[in-house]
Amino acid sequence: MDAAPVTTSKEPARIAGMFDAIARHYDLLNRLLSAGFDRRWRAQAVAALRLSGRERLLDMCTGTADLAMAAVTAARGQARDVIGIDFSANMLVRGLAKVRSAGLQTRVHLARGDATAVPLPDGAVEAASVAFGIRNVIDPEAACREFHRVLVPGGRLAVLEFGTPRLPGLRAAYLWYFRVILPRIGGLVSRHGDAYAYLPASVAEFPCGDAFAAVLTRAGFGQVTWRTLTFGIVYLYLATRLPDDRDDTGRRTDAGV
Ligand SMILES: C[S@@+](CC[C@H](N)C(=O)[O-])C[C@H]1O[C@@H](n2cnc3c(N)ncnc32)[C@H](O)[C@@H]1O
Repeated sequence: MDAAPVTTSKEPARIAGMFDAIARHYDLLNRLLSAGFDRRWRAQAVAALRLSGRERLLDMCTGTADLAMAAVTAARGQARDVIGIDFSANMLVRGLAKVRSAGLQTRVHLARGDATAVPLPDGAVEAASVAFGIRNVIDPEAACREFHRVLVPGGRLAVLEFGTPRLPGLRAAYLWYFRVILPRIGGLVSRHGDAYAYLPASVAEFPCGDAFAAVLTRAGFGQVTWRTLTFGIVYLYLATRLPDDRDDTGRRTDAGV
């Protein structure tokens, strides 16, 4: 008998409900399923932002606040403070407990909100990040427009998202792990097999590399670059809200006033 098809619907209530359901086991499974690499990937994203200690950083889709906390505790290149936003209440509750037990509550502030309607005024932050969240957003380009809006001119955005290694042997082994083993372990530990079947299915259909860079460019960003981490398991994108809202070709990207 065929397995039931995996739904990759990004309907917000479904996605928030899925993360609410797995929040209790989320951190443990992250460490386990990535063999601890997830921390290194977030640290690389924070380092790539080249923070000076003066920036307020928006960490969108902050989940249990791992990147938010990493950004204010990095050995070099910290944010002054972080606003972490997510629409899953249970993920935020876990994050808040971690922030408090680390004594970081004066520097990491968590709030509920949607990436496609960020509850911040224009130009509110000097830096922004999204780690493993953008793939889940129903309209990634609308979310990127929001990140552009809330950044000050010159502000930088770092996006981490999963990809798939290209090296032929490694690719086959990784896909077997990602599509067969990971959903089983994730399902066993979290008792929400659907969420861990959704992970590889959603990665498979998300545009990566140049395709996502084009989304960032259409959203108004300039100086868009990307590189792969750990043989292409993860992609790190960097983009800048250009100082005068001109794109790389010199054309205006919005009406301005
Ligand atoms: C895979 S988790 C990543 C969490 C965290 N950034 C990390 O690195 O572990 C994805 C998170 O994105 C959140 N999310 C997905 N779509 C969202 C949206 N449209 N608005 C706000 N949060 C969203 C989910 O609730 C979830 O907490």
